[in-house]
Amino acid sequence: MQKSQKIRLALILAALLTAAGLTRPAQAQSMSPPAAAPPETGVQLFAGKCASCHNADGSGGMSFGSVKSADLRAPGLEQTYKTDALLLRAILDGKDETGQPLHAPMPVWRGQLSTASAQAIVAYLHTLHS
Ligand code: HEC
Repeated sequence: MQKSQKIRLALILAALLTAAGLTRPAQAQSMSPPAAAPPETGVQLFAGKCASCHNADGSGGMSFGSVKSADLRAPGLEQTYKTDALLLRAILDGKDETGQPLHAPMPVWRGQLSTASAQAIVAYLHTLHS
């Protein structure tokens, strides 16, 4: 009697542990912040922080003295910045694809935008096409 109760308890424990193990990845997925930031976040951030200089459609072309704001749409941007890492660096550190500083008034966004937010903007930029 006692022995079978122990076995039953062990089985229940095993079942609970299995269930916990199975639910953990699902929870982690729904909570995972940066890479999975929803595209709407990128849309909102772009509208609030970038569109004033790059236009709502990302086409850029606004003059700031002798500098024009860049066209942020594909295919051009993606041909220049081959990886998301380079695009993130352009946004967060104000560096072009070769590592040279971008011209003012393009801001350096590090400190004002989290990496996750910048990633959300990059994801949104990939949806813009000329
Ligand atoms: C105050 C105006 C201004 C704001 C605000 C601004 N930019 Fe820019 N951005 C520029 C200008 C001007 C350039 C071109 C700089 C150059 O030619 O060196 C530029 C260049 C860039 C580039 C490099 C593109 C290329 O082809 O080299 C990227 C990427 C970029 N901006 C993204 C953003 C994002 C994302 C935001 C919002 C978080 C943003 N910018 C906000 C003015 C701005």
